[in-house]
Amino acid sequence: MKIRYQNQSTPQFLDSILETMTLEEKIGQLVQADLSWDVDLESMVRSGAIGSLFTIKDVNLIHHYQDIAVNQSRLGIPLIIGNDVIHGFKTILPIPLAQACSWNPGLIEEAERMVTKEALYAGTHWNFAPMVDVARDPRWGRIAEGSGEDPFLGAAIAEARVRAYQAEAILPGRKMAACVKHFAGYGAAIGGKDYNSVDLSERSMREVYFPPFQAALNAGCKTLMTAFHDLNAIPATANTWLLVDMLRKEWGFDGLVVSDFDAIGELIHHGIAADHKEAALLAARAQVDMDMMGNAYPFHLKTLLDEGKIELDWINCAVRRVLTLKAELGLFEHPFVDPLQAEEIFLSEAHVKTAKKLADESIVLLKNDNHLLPFDPKGKTIAVVGPLANDCTSILGCWRFAGDLTRTETILDAMSRTYRDTTIRFAQGCTVTGEILNADSVSKVLEGADVCVCVVGEEESMSGEAHSRAFLDLPGQQKALVEHVSKSGVPTVLVVASGRPLVLTDLVPGVDALLMAWHGGTTAGAVIADVFCGVINPSGHLPVSMPRSIGQIPVYYAHNSTGRPVEARGVIQFNREHKSKYLDESNEPLYPFGFGLSYAHFKIGEVVLEKESFTKNEQILMRISVQNESNIRGATVVQVYVRDRVASVARPVRQLVWFEKLTLDRGETKKITAAILPKHFGFYDPSMTFVIEPGVYDVFVGFDSKAPQAGTFSITG
Ligand code: BGC
Repeated sequence: MKIRYQNQSTPQFLDSILETMTLEEKIGQLVQADLSWDVDLESMVRSGAIGSLFTIKDVNLIHHYQDIAVNQSRLGIPLIIGNDVIHGFKTILPIPLAQACSWNPGLIEEAERMVTKEALYAGTHWNFAPMVDVARDPRWGRIAEGSGEDPFLGAAIAEARVRAYQAEAILPGRKMAACVKHFAGYGAAIGGKDYNSVDLSERSMREVYFPPFQAALNAGCKTLMTAFHDLNAIPATANTWLLVDMLRKEWGFDGLVVSDFDAIGELIHHGIAADHKEAALLAARAQVDMDMMGNAYPFHLKTLLDEGKIELDWINCAVRRVLTLKAELGLFEHPFVDPLQAEEIFLSEAHVKTAKKLADESIVLLKNDNHLLPFDPKGKTIAVVGPLANDCTSILGCWRFAGDLTRTETILDAMSRTYRDTTIRFAQGCTVTGEILNADSVSKVLEGADVCVCVVGEEESMSGEAHSRAFLDLPGQQKALVEHVSKSGVPTVLVVASGRPLVLTDLVPGVDALLMAWHGGTTAGAVIADVFCGVINPSGHLPVSMPRSIGQIPVYYAHNSTGRPVEARGVIQFNREHKSKYLDESNEPLYPFGFGLSYAHFKIGEVVLEKESFTKNEQILMRISVQNESNIRGATVVQVYVRDRVASVARPVRQLVWFEKLTLDRGETKKITAAILPKHFGFYDPSMTFVIEPGVYDVFVGFDSKAPQAGTFSITG
């Protein structure tokens, strides 16, 4: 396989190549296809009619097409290969929602760098990640792919991921591009139904849904993907307010914008384009550079140009963006990789270790009555039950990419491997979705057991894209299974392996301990085994509120006060207090955003604000004393929330503005300094101008979003 271009990644080179290109070759650079496209793919690549292929795991297949592009096409422009490496290539990390439970962007960055290495070595040039859609509705299956409900936490993680995916020096001469998606508001699909319409105010877009995108772009993210939904009736892929006014003009983004899969073609179903030609025109006007499987650009851009509906300048600009990206990633000089090297690093000891570190921090302990955990298994009998206890498929989660089932240990296997002098008895009880509960087999293993570990949840295919759910109970007979176990009187640890928060309200009282394990990836089994026996002390905190019931959804901590808040004395009308609440359900979630227990016990001590008042250009410094009151080392997440008492618009009752993950030895006290930037509680005034208003602010410090008030400061003009 020869390489045609050496040291050619300069602007002059790009000019010269653009001058040499025919219109057809230019349009080709704006076309992205996967292998399912019903065309003669090889001939199209050979004629320069395709600029990018995606969803190809096999490096040999990548090389096959790359060889055609580089060595058999007229200009030899390399293909850029995109893939959805959402939480791992071969070594699979916990799903992104679980990763967010670590509240540890540094560790996420480290682990995702490892993922980048595997992907780069296997020929991927472009990662369709990070997915940064804020999600406040767990019915939406794609909540699994993001960082939860909060824009501040989401922004911190978005930045970390971009840095990891675009890191230098992972593969000599080459880099991978990140692609932040799905722009924007996709997580607010009405009713939590994937692809559904989104109706959001400009304020919500700017204050809640945009910040993680802006953070990703500020971290240098080279590309952005559009979204499927219609935003306030204008489909995101043709939405010039989103893609031109905000993205290009206000934020000055000059990188590549790719449509989501067939999102240009789907403008027809949205009912804003009569055919693919009109769809292509609308997307081009919104400055979408590349058409992913939309059947629009490849067949209609030329006609639109001939008819004078689009300009050659626009095509040139879009092509230049594609070529610039290819050049920046080193593709002209290094279009091929060494497949043998990839095999050596996949699932290497170091990679599995890194994955485990992150998986350890992704587990959230939600309940631990009478310190049932950690449990010393030595000499004990453990009943392991439930459909996910011996399942290595589901725990890899949605988008498991090239995840290797043969290298994924189940929870049951990990417990059997790690515990010594322990009797482990297993009964599956039921399947995840099945209608039959084999209660007898469960009773048998429970008889005389010292403890029961009951592992329930969702299959990997129950969350992710196009997998929304209207009910958030445990599917099938699993609820009955847990109730059956609870009745046995055997102390029970409920382990929930799912792609989203589930409604567990009825089950929690009947179990002694509750661990949210999510879908934890390659090392999920080992992590649960270690957490159970105390080798790992859980430190995860929820990045999303756990609902008590479906009727509460969306339930999230940063809601506005309303005029009749539940905490205040209600207005009496018709002899009854009128408040913003349900007659039949609490306003509170089952577990609040930010919550997570540890085997250690922490306390916030003195909180000292550096001053009483600050200008809007100053950092608000606060010294916080944190104590580990227990006799075991552990980690927690210190969180600071702020409330603007009186503003020119209604503000959230509190919003996260700072956090730090902290490890403390037994009995240790640490003094940390929180530095809050006023821009993090700034907002858009009634004229949509960003302001940090003078006034009084309450500050809350603790370990979750219910943290008590710790002080007050003012912002002067
Ligand atoms: C998803 C994107 C993904 C793309 C390519 C689409 O269906 O919405 O997130 O990157 O497919 O696989």
